Amino acid sequence: MDGTADKSGERWVDFASAGPGTPGGNYLRLFWQPIAKAADLEAGKALPIHVMDEKFTLYRGESGTPYVVGFRCAHRSTQLSTGWVRGEAIQCMYHGWTYDGAGSCIARPGEDPPGPASRAGIPSYPAREHLGLIYGYFGDGEAPAFPANEYFKNVEIIENHASDFPANWFQTMENHFDETHLAFVHTFGGSHNNLGRAYQLPEMDIYETDYGMVRETQVPGSKLRKTLYMLPNIMRILIPTFNDIAEIGGWRDTYIIVVPTDDANHRVYFTQNLHVDDADLGAYHDMHARFAEKIAAAPSITQLTHEILAGKGHINDYLDHPYLLLLEDAITQGGQGQIVDRSLELLGRTDAGVAAMRRVWDREIRALADGKPTKDWVYKGEEPELGF
Ligand code: FES
Ligand SMILES: [Fe+2]
Repeated sequence: MDGTADKSGERWVDFASAGPGTPGGNYLRLFWQPIAKAADLEAGKALPIHVMDEKFTLYRGESGTPYVVGFRCAHRSTQLSTGWVRGEAIQCMYHGWTYDGAGSCIARPGEDPPGPASRAGIPSYPAREHLGLIYGYFGDGEAPAFPANEYFKNVEIIENHASDFPANWFQTMENHFDETHLAFVHTFGGSHNNLGRAYQLPEMDIYETDYGMVRETQVPGSKLRKTLYMLPNIMRILIPTFNDIAEIGGWRDTYIIVVPTDDANHRVYFTQNLHVDDADLGAYHDMHARFAEKIAAAPSITQLTHEILAGKGHINDYLDHPYLLLLEDAITQGGQGQIVDRSLELLGRTDAGVAAMRRVWDREIRALADGKPTKDWVYKGEEPELGF
């Protein structure tokens, strides 16, 4: 279970591994995890899903209901997402075996009917949709309540964004507890230049709460900024908009969920709530449509990160990328090595947040592995504060 020790001799659990049966993977599987943007899956279509180092098939029945079943057909293992959705079932492309949303085989052309106790079934998993994301539950036993929490008091306009990052998921989790990086990654990187902030290091205080942790930070001359962490893997924060969609709606009340793809890659999901005056609604929708076109045309964060890490380009070459903010983070997280070697690092005073969150994770993962109770994270409506 142990990962590497750092230079102070502190020996952490293995944070990086999220596959089935790993201590960290077992812990993450206690919670619902987002697996796709709802807008990326039309009714009657299927997608391959790669999450926590496992593969699944996500499809929407013709009614619009999402289902998650096993990745491969029980017959001769072809990838089911290549098949066809038939009503609320999915039919394999290879020889037409058909499965319902519970994973039962309901048709096998040319063979005996599968029958109720057939071994021809495939696994199935609970799936739900909430505020523009589709979630799955991959743990043992009964799924917990869904949604686990309702963060926004008044839901107005919801925007969803998602990007793949070529680095282990826990490196972005650690980055979320590292406010110091804003002064470098996002100030010199370029995405925060529109905030008019010069390079400034914050004072930082991190503490544990009923729902997770809080990061309170303050740069000289500014108000206190309060960022919430709903553990295990959600950050709730007020953030400036991405490039080009800054004019309408102001800063977004956002929760960001970090989800492992495999151990060397992860996906970051943004769910944002914003207010737009009725008079500005038409202009807002036009602006958002233009932004979506730019995203679709732009090179992916993963591709650019690999190129920049290979020495082919620099962040300064991509200041007009619509997801500049994400590219800046992906370069630094990928630049640590796709799975960072923590035995090489030298933590200091500015890493207090990183160390504090690791201690909580270490405690929870060890508790689960030892068969002891884990902390029941309870959110009671706390709100983040802007602070600029
Ligand atoms: S592999 Fe799916 S029906 Fe044969
Ligand atoms: Fe960042």
